[in-house]
Amino acid sequence: MASGLILIGFMGSGKSAVGSRVAQILGWNMVDTDEQVEKELGIPISEIFRTRGEKGFRQAEQSVVIRLLEEAEKSGAQMVLSLGGGALTNAEVYERLQAEPLVVLLDTDLDTAFDRAQGGQRPLARDPEGFKELYREREELYRGAAKIIVDTRGKDIHEIASEVAAMVEERKSAG
Ligand code: S3P
Repeated sequence: MASGLILIGFMGSGKSAVGSRVAQILGWNMVDTDEQVEKELGIPISEIFRTRGEKGFRQAEQSVVIRLLEEAEKSGAQMVLSLGGGALTNAEVYERLQAEPLVVLLDTDLDTAFDRAQGGQRPLARDPEGFKELYREREELYRGAAKIIVDTRGKDIHEIASEVAAMVEERKSAG
């Protein structure tokens, strides 16, 4: 991809909402990998987990993410890519992110993430203990992949989006 913004972070960190807003501010396209996986398979993520297991979901997610990164790289299109929270647990995805300059982590505390993640149908957000464990397990992974970390604590979506968009513009103009 190398010309776009990649948002990473735990479930409930606001990637999709912030991503759409940032895309609006910058006039870029936005792709949400969860939505893309659902679109391609024609069923919701909860259903993919139920019928194919987490492994089946991860395989679909990996191929979608890698393909989107490759397509964006070829076309040179500037876009916002919001990655599902577990996408970078895949070694190939993690590796590809190394070459991307604008990997932004939306850093959120566990309680806020949990509360926000309750709004949807996320299979991995049902059990509070499992959620907490996953959060701890992945903390370092997110930090390791991020080029920029945005502390989202106490900020609303609009504030976070303005902050991220300003950062992108600043980096772009610095070349
Ligand atoms: C997951 C996060 C979800 C979705 C799936 C699994 C995870 O995306 O990909 O339910 O493993 O963290 P969001 O981070 O957009 O909620």
